Amino acid sequence: MPENETTAPSLENLLHETRAFPPSPAFAAQANAQASLYEEAKADRLGFWADQARELVTWSTPFTQTLDWSGAPVAKWFADGKLNAAYNAVDRHVEAGLGDRVAIHFEGEPGDTRTVTYADLQREVSRAANALTALGVTQGDRVVIYLPMLVESVVAMLACARIGAPHSVVFGGFSADALRSRIADAEAKLVITADGGYRRGAPSALKPAVDEAVGPKDGEPASTVEHVLVVRRTGQDVAWTEGRDVWWHDALEHADTFHEPVAVDAEHPLFILYTSGTTGKPKGILHTTGGYLTQAAYTHKNVFDLKAESDVYWCTADIGWVTGHTYVVYGPLANGATQVIYEGTPDTPHRGRWWELVEKYQVSILYTAPTAIRTCMKWGEDIPAGFDLSSLRVLGSVGEPINPEAWMWYRRVIGGDTAPIVDTWWQTETGGIMISPLPGVTATKPGSAQVALPGIVADVVDDEAHSVPDGGGGYLVLSEPWPSMLRGIWGDLQRFKDTYWSRFEGLYFAGDGAKKDEDGDIWLLGRVDDVMNVSGHRLSTTEIESALVSHDVVAEAAVVGANDETTGQAVVAFVILRGEHADRASTPEGAEEVQAELRNHVAKEIGPIAKPRRILVVPELPKTRSGKIMRRLLRDVAENRTVGDATTLADSSVMDLISAGLAKPSASSED
Ligand code: WT7
Repeated sequence: MPENETTAPSLENLLHETRAFPPSPAFAAQANAQASLYEEAKADRLGFWADQARELVTWSTPFTQTLDWSGAPVAKWFADGKLNAAYNAVDRHVEAGLGDRVAIHFEGEPGDTRTVTYADLQREVSRAANALTALGVTQGDRVVIYLPMLVESVVAMLACARIGAPHSVVFGGFSADALRSRIADAEAKLVITADGGYRRGAPSALKPAVDEAVGPKDGEPASTVEHVLVVRRTGQDVAWTEGRDVWWHDALEHADTFHEPVAVDAEHPLFILYTSGTTGKPKGILHTTGGYLTQAAYTHKNVFDLKAESDVYWCTADIGWVTGHTYVVYGPLANGATQVIYEGTPDTPHRGRWWELVEKYQVSILYTAPTAIRTCMKWGEDIPAGFDLSSLRVLGSVGEPINPEAWMWYRRVIGGDTAPIVDTWWQTETGGIMISPLPGVTATKPGSAQVALPGIVADVVDDEAHSVPDGGGGYLVLSEPWPSMLRGIWGDLQRFKDTYWSRFEGLYFAGDGAKKDEDGDIWLLGRVDDVMNVSGHRLSTTEIESALVSHDVVAEAAVVGANDETTGQAVVAFVILRGEHADRASTPEGAEEVQAELRNHVAKEIGPIAKPRRILVVPELPKTRSGKIMRRLLRDVAENRTVGDATTLADSSVMDLISAGLAKPSASSED
């Protein structure tokens, strides 16, 4: 294992009380997925995917080739086919006579609602596509979307897809600086944003961050952005740049409700989504159209057992993350699902808000993150008990390992002890779900994502890339290309190869540690690289370290993800201050002031989600002789453990110094 090995619980702990929950015969009898799916895929993997692509996606030009792996590791799937993702998500359902079916039940945080049918969606997306065209956006241009969770967010993404302009959604919680660097990297022509959105009972602004991000900045080239399209959500006052800024409602009002979707090549870029890697610079993960849409639809149908005519589906993810792309926008809409979109936080105006929505809309499939489940556990089960949750029949989990206790609580309290839980492992890079039980087929085990889906080949290997036997542990790899795999890192082919394909010859290295149990089921054990997972959100230790050292007072910084009961991991930073500032931090008040300053600085550089939970001022950092920070030792400190083997340190007294210094209380924060 590398220096920064995982600190996730050992398999022995996870398995202490494992029992499996076989599917009920009633569920199994009506399930979309049958055990034969595994056999089919195994017998002819590429034929299986070609069948899925033909059955679940409508092509304007049918493909004749399934996979071209000659340019590995850049795959081409269904390459000679043509299609349009927005047509697949919207128009074909209307053409099939389903125009009156509800696509979206929107619920704003203040309680305002909007019901959008597939016919409504077709009109809105068409108008938005015409409006984008009128603003000069053409096929291949990049559009950055920086919006809260609104109907317009879905419409904006689909409008881009409709004209073949790849979108790059930036999570609304990212700062102006983070937005600026993503706009620059993608060389975006247009930004779609809103005046603001509602969060925790109050309007929170978005437009000012865009103004800052696209405005002139010393020493940086002028922004490539020509127009900013602004959705009015809160009615807040916004600064306005004439000629550049355009109201969404004005642009759409004059736009035609008819728009002919552009048929693009299967390998045409559908979107770029930035995610944190092990270096300071976020990676623009590139996804293309045909393979991505195929896997989105296939996984959504089989993993959630979607019955489009009767289910009400709700994925609580924000469109700023890949889960929102694949399981709010493309997967559910391609399958003609009816879904709930909720703008706000789970505890506004009260801690039962989610369960109230499940009852109100009769949600039958719920997909959320372990952090949310653990938070609800903390709030107490009498809160969900106050609502009728009997409509729920499938529960999903994503984003981080789910501990067996949370899994059991989810099953019992939310799922009435009957709804199967699917723990779905995947990544921004994989585009869609890769490892998950199939409801109705798999006997589920609390805490394990278990098996690769039919059509997917995953394995756990040791340092030498040998498959480990059942009962063994190592690294998770994907051994065969899959349709929704990333096609690269935007503008950086070498980094793509280095990051995912250089660790093990011919295998995709996911960055996760994993074990196989005695049945061969896979248990995910957390990241083995410098990537942290906080509330299911990916953060880079290096990126936060760079943010910290960009502040005047910091000489050096090291960041670790410490285990946290609710958020999975929490960001803990160790900083060495520059000379005079070290004195300033020598009193408790002074230290608190510096810590607050640094936390705000990180929020400004990256976004509030990256704020360290704790900042510890230290005199030294533990380093190996080659100068590499030993984060493992810092994690021991952050998790209040006895510090482990420090013999490879260049200076073995450093840990004593750090521990002695930390005997003093230090400020911490909860947000
Ligand atoms: C990383 C990917 C996939 C959408 C949300 C996160 C961790 C994700 C699971 C799971 C254990 C999981 C992995 C992965 N992860 N799902 N079910 N069990 N770990 O996407 O931001 O790209 O992060 O999230 O560590 O590598 P992401």
